[in-house]
Amino acid sequence: MMQSIEKVLFTEEQIAEKIKELGSQIAKDYAGKNPLIISVLRGSFIFMADLVRAIDIPCEVDFLSVSSYGSGTVSSGNIKMIQGLDGDIKGRHVIVVEDILDSGRTLSYLMETLRESGAASISLCTFLDKPERRVVPVHVDYCGFQVPDEFIVGYGLDYAQRFRNLPFVGILKPEVYSD
Ligand code: IMP
Ligand code: MG
Repeated sequence: MMQSIEKVLFTEEQIAEKIKELGSQIAKDYAGKNPLIISVLRGSFIFMADLVRAIDIPCEVDFLSVSSYGSGTVSSGNIKMIQGLDGDIKGRHVIVVEDILDSGRTLSYLMETLRESGAASISLCTFLDKPERRVVPVHVDYCGFQVPDEFIVGYGLDYAQRFRNLPFVGILKPEVYSD
C-alpha cells in the first residue's frame, strides 16, 4: 500500500497526541451530560474507536451510515441515509463524529436531519477538515487537523473502499485514481 502514498501527512504518534487533546476537551465540555456520540460510517470508525477511549466520562455510542452516491474522489451532493440510528436522540447531547469535512454537503444534510429529531444539543467533531473545498457552510466544534486540497487516505479514509487500514494519514498518488 505504501507505494500508492505520495506523502505522509500525520503519523500514528501525531494522531494519538491530537486525539488525547480532543478527548480531554470533550470530556471537560460534556461532564455530567452523558453525551451520545454518533459515528458516521464507514470513514470515521477508526477515529471513533480511538476518540471514545480518550473521553474519560460516561457516554454512549451509536452509528449511522450515509452515502453521497458515486465512488471516485468527488462527492455528488446527493445524500442518502443508508442506516439510521438504533436509539432515540430526543433530549440527548449529541456529538457527531465524521472522518473528513470536504464540500460540507454530507454534514449539512446530516446535522439538519438530526436537529429535526429533537436533540438537546448537537456538535460536530471531525477528524480532518479540507476548508478550501467547502461549498456549504458547516459549523465545526472539534477538529483534528486541517488538510490541503488533495485526496487523503488512511486511518479510516478510503479510496474505492481501500486504504482504510493504513495506520497513518497520507496523500494518495494521483496516478492511483486517475487511471
Ligand atoms: P462532503 O459531503 O463533500 O463534505 O464529503 C464528505 C465525505 O466525502 C467524507 O465523509 C468522505 O467519505 C468523503 N471524502 C471527502 N474528501 C475525501 C478524501 O480526501 N479522502 C477520502 N474521502 C473523502
Ligand atoms: Mg465518509
